[in-house]
Amino acid sequence: MDKLLAEAKSKLEEVGYLDLPKPNIEDLTAALNALKKEKNAVILAHYYQAPEIQEIADYVGDSLGLSQQAASSTADIILFAGVHFMAETAKILSPHKKVILPDLKAGCSLAESCSAEELKQFKKSHPNHLVVMYVNTSAEVKALSDLVCTSSNAEKVINSIPKDKPILFGPDRNLGAYIKSKTDRDITLWDGACVVHEAFSLEKLIQLCKEYPKAQIVAHPESEHYILETAAFIGSTTQLINYVKSDPAETFIVATEAGVLHKMKKEVPEKTLIPAPAQEDNTCACSECAYMKLNTLEKLYWCLKHEAPEITLDEDLQRKALVPVKRMLELSSLN
Ligand code: 13P
Ligand code: SF4
Repeated sequence: MDKLLAEAKSKLEEVGYLDLPKPNIEDLTAALNALKKEKNAVILAHYYQAPEIQEIADYVGDSLGLSQQAASSTADIILFAGVHFMAETAKILSPHKKVILPDLKAGCSLAESCSAEELKQFKKSHPNHLVVMYVNTSAEVKALSDLVCTSSNAEKVINSIPKDKPILFGPDRNLGAYIKSKTDRDITLWDGACVVHEAFSLEKLIQLCKEYPKAQIVAHPESEHYILETAAFIGSTTQLINYVKSDPAETFIVATEAGVLHKMKKEVPEKTLIPAPAQEDNTCACSECAYMKLNTLEKLYWCLKHEAPEITLDEDLQRKALVPVKRMLELSSLN
């Protein structure tokens, strides 16, 4: 028995488990900061991460901002507090950096809804279509696309395409329909959706509006059209934060993942911010992304300590996927 215990202890020592700081926010934050310095690492976090993760991050942003940071970072290691497609995009943009993701299971229902095989089939049967893919896709899908966009630049990306060109927009049918209505272009929509943004309840939203008659609704374009139709402003997570900051209204109902409220509350502590209500039969029973919430401070610590799990990409795939991503960044920098 003693031998077994000694073996188990030495195994735990070997993986560094016994050095694990006490699992409270302060100790883990201090330990992560020390590791960051020692390894010249940077933490990039999406607004949908838990508050304690946003607080320790070097940069918190929307998908576009995170891509721009990944492209310009001088760190040796990028620890990505977000989901797989985001870390993969960072690797596409910075192939010589080590990109690590705390939990490889942090996927995305949009990325899952469009496989490279299905897209190849579509391209074969629609050779004339130009393919514009939302950044929420795998590297394989990006490599088959002509252009990539995020929710903050989708309209600009579509408007950069010659008017007579038929377009496939994927995988988000809601963002696609919204952009189609704004640009009046010949756009075929892929049939994908975000499980979080499709879970808002219109009935409960109407009820909430009765309780707060002066509230303004702000919504992410991944939401369904009946939610978007109620919104005073539609935009990416960064754009929603900026709107809430600059608009004089005092109360906002926020139709996107609830994590964004952390930054909003910091920016406008005097305003009332209410997360848009989700349907009761929603699998996570709230407007939280279960994939995003797989990341914890403790997992971030282990990830940086062992520099794993690492995102790796075949060189040829990385080069092909870089083309449409780079085009998007170039278009985004134009006024
Ligand atoms: P943005 O951060 O670009 O607004 O996207 C939201 C999202 O759903 C990311 O997965
Ligand atoms: Fe994907 Fe929706 Fe989660 Fe964003 S919120 S990562 S789009 S499932």
